[in-house]
Amino acid sequence: MRNVELKARDPDPARTLERALALGADDRGEIAQRDTYFVGARGRLKLREQETGGTPLWDELIEYSRADSTDPRTSTYRRVPVADAAPLLEALDAAYGTLGTVTKRRRLLLWDEVRIHLDEVEGLGSFLELEAEAEEGSDLSAEREKVERLREELGIEDENLVATSYSDLVLGAPDQPGAAPDEPKATPSGPDDLMRAANAIMSRAHVPYSKFPVGAALRASDGSIHVGANVENASYPEGQCAETSAIGALIAAGHTEIVEVAVTAERMDICPPCGGCRQRLAEFAAGDTPVHLGRPGGPRETTTIGELLPLAFELE
Ligand code: THU
Repeated sequence: MRNVELKARDPDPARTLERALALGADDRGEIAQRDTYFVGARGRLKLREQETGGTPLWDELIEYSRADSTDPRTSTYRRVPVADAAPLLEALDAAYGTLGTVTKRRRLLLWDEVRIHLDEVEGLGSFLELEAEAEEGSDLSAEREKVERLREELGIEDENLVATSYSDLVLGAPDQPGAAPDEPKATPSGPDDLMRAANAIMSRAHVPYSKFPVGAALRASDGSIHVGANVENASYPEGQCAETSAIGALIAAGHTEIVEVAVTAERMDICPPCGGCRQRLAEFAAGDTPVHLGRPGGPRETTTIGELLPLAFELE
């Protein structure tokens, strides 16, 4: 399934509701939703638990990918109805690891087959989303037009457009290019989601020789997170670092671009990547790609690949 969608902060949800109703949008009422996000999947994966005041809705497993952009953008997704969310949550947490949850109240309206979401997101505030689901084989121009028309009718200003997902905003990814510059950050301390993912995988490190566990998490260009821990063997120092393990996971998931890095070590506040890993990271990252060293909620130092590896070797 594909759709064209737009997300914006909504300074006046009551006015937006009034305008949508005046356009003849069909009010489908309020839904309480809790989305749980998982790490380590190929793309983005979330389990949505939801409740309405009226007709019950299925909980859903949603797998999706999209480019981060404030323009009306295309998203590809799969939605699977879930009969029993609790054991699935446990299974996915065991298989992948949980990144965090996003809770919101959603008022759903339908206008000319475009879904209008008036969202109150816990810890973030009021947002508005437009989603036009695409017919099979559509070139998306009709869907784009509908979203643009609705955007005008509802008076959505450029400065309120948001490029990131609620999970990025709530769980702590940095602003994406094109995001409103004055957007309040949910977690001003930085990319806690990446640091938490690095910290969680560190518990799987195989370090009988050094007893020095390290965890690394890499964000790919679609926002998905890939993790790795260090793996040693009897012929120490033939082992591999956490960063190298994470690169392998990112490549195995089909990505070739690293947009952000986090590294954490149990026994060192700030654990800088070794020389070899700097070269390996540089292969898939840009000079200005941020590298966060530290702990979730603890000491934190942010540098870049370029600072870690000046005069990097590149084959011409
Ligand atoms: N190590 C990493 O995994 N990443 C780093 O950034 C530095 C060092 C590992 C290698 C070895 O398994 C252990 O830490 C001690 O050197």
